[in-house]
Amino acid sequence: MNASHRAPLPALSSPPGDRLEVVAAWDEATPYQSWRPQALVPPTFRPATAPQTFVVVNQKGGAGKTTTVVELASSWAAQGLRVRVIDADHQEAALSQWLLPQYAEDGPRHSLRSVFFDECSLLETTYPTLFEGIDIVPSGLDLVRVEYDRPIGAEQALAAALAREAGQHGEAVPYDVTLIDCAPSLSLVTVAAMTAADQALVPLSVGGLDLKAMASLDRTITAVQQKNNPKLAVGAVFLTAWDKSGFARQLASRVSEDYPEAAVFPIRRSVRAAEAPIAEQPVRVWAPESTAASDYEQSAGIILPQREAV
Ligand SMILES: Nc1ncnc2c1ncn2[C@@H]1O[C@H](COP(=O)(O)OP(=O)(O)OP(=O)(O)O)[C@@H](O)[C@H]1O
Ligand SMILES: [Mg+2]
Repeated sequence: MNASHRAPLPALSSPPGDRLEVVAAWDEATPYQSWRPQALVPPTFRPATAPQTFVVVNQKGGAGKTTTVVELASSWAAQGLRVRVIDADHQEAALSQWLLPQYAEDGPRHSLRSVFFDECSLLETTYPTLFEGIDIVPSGLDLVRVEYDRPIGAEQALAAALAREAGQHGEAVPYDVTLIDCAPSLSLVTVAAMTAADQALVPLSVGGLDLKAMASLDRTITAVQQKNNPKLAVGAVFLTAWDKSGFARQLASRVSEDYPEAAVFPIRRSVRAAEAPIAEQPVRVWAPESTAASDYEQSAGIILPQREAV
């Protein structure tokens, strides 16, 4: 593919009044009606540095995982970082249908499945998207073979592929950020994604909270930490499709109790955010004026801040 055909991601110019207020603790005394949308960045929060691998995970469907992956990827790519997204959801492959991989005309069309079966490297399964700075490891229905065939070492396969890549490239790793989009299930592939990541990012839909799902995700994160990946931590929680309500506030308080070191970001409900996948464009491109685009941009800057230019 000709790199000049890739669209640069636009800078956003949201008015200051539109930005989330950043607080170190929730103000529980003020009634929610007079709340402004606030991002919680507790004193215990530690920003990430590149290169970094994030897994975006929640086994509940429709929590905002794929949207979070696309928008964080777009925000970091717009700042000049080299971003790779990995589609680890074989049921929907929603990410691969949103940020379409640009295959060479007569070239091979690998997918994430090949990495689990040791057929090729992560780099060989990575393709450009139409957007500058974002490449994708696509997935398709054949990823389900991992669940059925359970190849030896599957839980470690992604971590090993990333480690091999880092070993080959040393300081000059090909991507600054890798973001893995998970299926709404705690499958073998999801566990492999959590095993490969430095940090977990958890989107929760304010409208569809299921506390049992949260408790079960927490148990899985703990199990992965204990058995496969001691460094895995929840770096941030996104309250997606957020609007001002007593319930949103309750949820925000609960999340910050459960994950005291995580930043908590409301991503405001925007009708236009839901149109972007159909348009095959990041929300940032489809609706740059939307609060969802600006909330993700602000979150991305807090999770992995850019070094100030000297
Ligand atoms: N801030 C937002 N405002 C309005 N709609 C949103 C917002 N974020 C996500 N949505 C919509 O909510 C739906 C679910 O989002 P998304 O597909 O990102 O969730 P998911 O967790 O990846 O779902 P699945 O579990 O099915 O993979 C989509 O229709 C999406 O467009
Ligand atoms: Mg999804």
